[in-house]
Amino acid sequence: MNCDIADKNLAPQGKLRIEWAERQMPTLRLVRERFAQEKPLDGLTVACCLHVTTETANLARALAAGGAEVHLCASNPLSTQDDTAASLVEDYGINVYAIHGEDNETYYAHVRACLDAAPDVTMDDGADLVSTLHKEYQCLLDKLHGSTEETTTGVIRLKAMAADGALGLPVIAVNDAMTKHFFDNRYGTGQSTIDGILRATNTLIAGSTFVVAGYGWCGHGVAARAAGQGANVIVTEVDPVRGLEAAMDGFRVMPMAEAAPLGDIFVTVTGNRDVITLEHFKAMKDGAVVANAGHFDVELQIDALRDYAAERREMRPSLVEYRLPEGRSVFVLGEGRLVNLAAAEGHPAKVMDLSFCGQALSAEYLVQHGAELENQVYTLPEELDRGIAALKLESMGLTVDVLTEAQRRYLASWEEGTR
Ligand code: ADE
Repeated sequence: MNCDIADKNLAPQGKLRIEWAERQMPTLRLVRERFAQEKPLDGLTVACCLHVTTETANLARALAAGGAEVHLCASNPLSTQDDTAASLVEDYGINVYAIHGEDNETYYAHVRACLDAAPDVTMDDGADLVSTLHKEYQCLLDKLHGSTEETTTGVIRLKAMAADGALGLPVIAVNDAMTKHFFDNRYGTGQSTIDGILRATNTLIAGSTFVVAGYGWCGHGVAARAAGQGANVIVTEVDPVRGLEAAMDGFRVMPMAEAAPLGDIFVTVTGNRDVITLEHFKAMKDGAVVANAGHFDVELQIDALRDYAAERREMRPSLVEYRLPEGRSVFVLGEGRLVNLAAAEGHPAKVMDLSFCGQALSAEYLVQHGAELENQVYTLPEELDRGIAALKLESMGLTVDVLTEAQRRYLASWEEGTR
């Protein structure tokens, strides 16, 4: 087995935490049990570039139960849980290349280690694996059934590749499944972002002015959870429809230049760069707390802030003070990387249960149907998506109504109108 991890001795602690997550992932457990019977990935190699968390560990177990040889690297240098990585290697026979806090060179060495395994299917969270594959491992494209992608940011990158005619394999955008973005992006990012801010600062959210940049599904979740904690929420947007939606959801809407001097806490969730610039940092109040929950660390102009600041001090884990020459200080969380994974543990297992069912079923679908697909970005077939929701509802002890025959006919007919 191949691996590059921090410390194998952490395995016992990692195993307990993986088992705790598993209890909260009943839908993925059902998939794992079916995979163990049917072996849909038998003899195949699956390379995954995902956050190395206890939830991902349970996805890796499901893939391995399906017969796959699994190779796993991190999709962010700060999100790896070293105990989880150790248990995956020691207890579950997964090849892991991931060390918490690894530098950029090691990060990409680990991505390459996954590709060196000559995968039949790849799985991405941010498209670093597929991007490296296209730059350095073109020779693998013929062998690959396809790839899957977990995030909004990755899907944007992959759709740009497809539009350029540069995509060399079919991709399933797991992010675009209903059972992914309606839940993981909204409730997962909503809760885990607040969790990251609280673990890093232990600040009081009630009564604060909380600025959310971006009102996609992640922004919806962060704004709703901050409001639920008693914050006064401001939303900044570039899209007029989303801005309008935020206004009608009851939030103040304004440009970042106006929000910068008002906010106590800032969170970027746009997927774009330079959302909070040095000029915005300079306009902030003394004590402002700034975090990013978008996939890449480009949303805050951290380098410019570092160069401009008179002093930089690490106050607590994941909390850095930048004292500006004017005398005011701003506090940046998790070095501007995904705050929910850098300062906390990412989304709770109950919601990753849905996302990772989408990942596992997409891998199976690619093996069965990859040869029929074009080199384009696809969504998970709707029946699989609805099937995941049905299983999750069942695991929660809930049921929904069933259409009667008359209702089914009514929905399919065009003759009936005003009566
Ligand atoms: N992305 C967000 N939260 C996550 C988690 N807990 N595990 C893996 N990927 C994630």
